Amino acid sequence: MSKTDNNIHTVFNRILRRPEKEKLLNQRSKVIWLTGLSGSGKTTIAQHVEQELNKQGFLTQILDGDNIRSGINNNLGFSVEDREENIRRIAEVSKLFLNCGIICINSFISPTEDIRQIAIDIIGRENFIEVFVNAPIEVCEKRDVKGLYKRARKGEILNFTGIDSPFDAPEKPDIEVKTDVLTIEQATQKCLDYILPLIRY
Ligand code: ADX
Repeated sequence: MSKTDNNIHTVFNRILRRPEKEKLLNQRSKVIWLTGLSGSGKTTIAQHVEQELNKQGFLTQILDGDNIRSGINNNLGFSVEDREENIRRIAEVSKLFLNCGIICINSFISPTEDIRQIAIDIIGRENFIEVFVNAPIEVCEKRDVKGLYKRARKGEILNFTGIDSPFDAPEKPDIEVKTDVLTIEQATQKCLDYILPLIRY
């Protein structure tokens, strides 16, 4: 047990650790992190990947931008600082799942290298699978599933990613799925081909 300066007593050494949980669940945990523009297909792919993993007996947890922002992160907006705090908290939550042996599937725009690095530093590079869900902004804007691009173009939403707030494509993602070229099934399969060998016990 360690005692920190601010009277916090951590109890990590008495808690069952990740290897015991992974053994129980018969899987290796990872954080699968989907980054991409709004409307690129992150949520859809996350859901399909989860369904397939579930069919094959893996225990997963999805964390998704819109859900998390209506709950634990409902006090955050879209400034750089708030996006960083959004991702920091999500990464900490993911780490709890990771240490519980659970495969975490996250869909967050996470628009910059700096922001994704916050997540990687918390989660650990060896635990982190970066998936770039890539569709050109014109395609995302045309899909406009939530009608947000239209509102951003009208100036009703400020700091909208891809319009007046940056999105930096990841330089070396572990997986890239081009959702304007691949079908959902193909994109899902591409993710599974990479993920499955890493999570089998
Ligand atoms: S992130 O940039 O902090 O990673 P996150 O993935 O949590 O973003 O949330 C993105 C979702 O919030 C979008 O899919 C969209 O539905 C909604 N949203 C609302 N305002 C904005 C905005 N200004 N920029 C981007 N997404 C927004």
